[in-house]
Amino acid sequence: MFNIEDMLDRRHYENVLKPPLEAENLPPWCYTDEGFHRLEIERIFMKVWNLVGRTDLVPNPGDYLATDVAGIPIFLVRNQNGDIKAFANSCRHRGTQLLSGEGNCAAVVCPYHHWAFDLDGHLVSAGGMEDTIEFDKQDYGLIPLRLEVWAGFLFVNFDPHAESLMDFLGEMPAHIECYDFPNLATTRRKVWDVACNWKIYLENQRESYHIPAVHRQSLGDQAATPLDAKGAWSGSLIPVEQTAALLKGDTSPFPPIAARSGTALEGSHFIGLYPSTYLVATSDCFWWMEIRPRGPARIELVVGSGFPRETVERPDFEEVVERYYRRWDLTHSEDNEICELQQSGITSPLAQAGRLARRERGVHAVDCWVVEQLLSGSEDDSRAAAE
Ligand code: FES
Ligand SMILES: [Fe+2]
Repeated sequence: MFNIEDMLDRRHYENVLKPPLEAENLPPWCYTDEGFHRLEIERIFMKVWNLVGRTDLVPNPGDYLATDVAGIPIFLVRNQNGDIKAFANSCRHRGTQLLSGEGNCAAVVCPYHHWAFDLDGHLVSAGGMEDTIEFDKQDYGLIPLRLEVWAGFLFVNFDPHAESLMDFLGEMPAHIECYDFPNLATTRRKVWDVACNWKIYLENQRESYHIPAVHRQSLGDQAATPLDAKGAWSGSLIPVEQTAALLKGDTSPFPPIAARSGTALEGSHFIGLYPSTYLVATSDCFWWMEIRPRGPARIELVVGSGFPRETVERPDFEEVVERYYRRWDLTHSEDNEICELQQSGITSPLAQAGRLARRERGVHAVDCWVVEQLLSGSEDDSRAAAE
């Protein structure tokens, strides 16, 4: 639609950056344009910490999980010392994707010409390369990625100069660490394919304005109080004592998380961690979304859920948890459908940016963060060019 220089012109975003009740959301082409999407991958996804899973998905040495960040293939593997490592999922010979899905391996063996890498990424076998001049296996190890862990959540970052994960998370952990996350076991990850831009999905999760319309039958209205957020996240608290993980009218939840404390006793926390993670912690469990872009108009949505270990060990766990899964499946299909309709409408050449309600402050927060990331990247570039 525009060239990069034009897309980075601040005048496109002046209305986005106004105070929330004076602002508009992002112009429609920010949700549809290929070039804008490439810019986001370069300046956002490749610069920040991205959630890629939980530690209990790879519990034993050799366990691996192939995944991606905004379409960039990576894999996680637990090495023989019990440490989890992240690597680019591209062979150092001619680039083939090494691992798919999840499983266990003693070594990472490329399916193409059988180069083999140990679980620390060293190239240990490259049969047939004996005659290749000045070829040293030491120079062809896998490309390691920065990986850091918070509360059992695994994050990777492609930028060697980026701040630490804890600096990136800022005050966010202080709001929800009181749910005792390390004691929570991942019980399910459900994958959805949704035909919408990643920001449409995140914005939807960050506003409660749609709840009485879209989730009228399933949830009913929920009043949310915004959390005081600084940094790469925004969130809200729904001050209701009961679990937020059951459908309206459904009773007899699991017992509350025994070790929860502080603000975890005040209600449920809903947190959008930019760019593509959504975390919810409630009285008896937690769930999260990994919003993985697949181009400008498609996402792979992973919805994960976890419960305290003592809940998972209950004899009635499998039976009762079905009601929780039903709640997530229903409300996500409601959100998925409305997000696809929004994507469809916003793709029209007649679509225009709109104004925001008080209950859409989260949309404003997401949009401002995206603009700031894109523009600060371009200001860094011009500084570098001037030096
Ligand atoms: S591309 Fe991996 S061994 Fe050839
Ligand atoms: Fe929703």
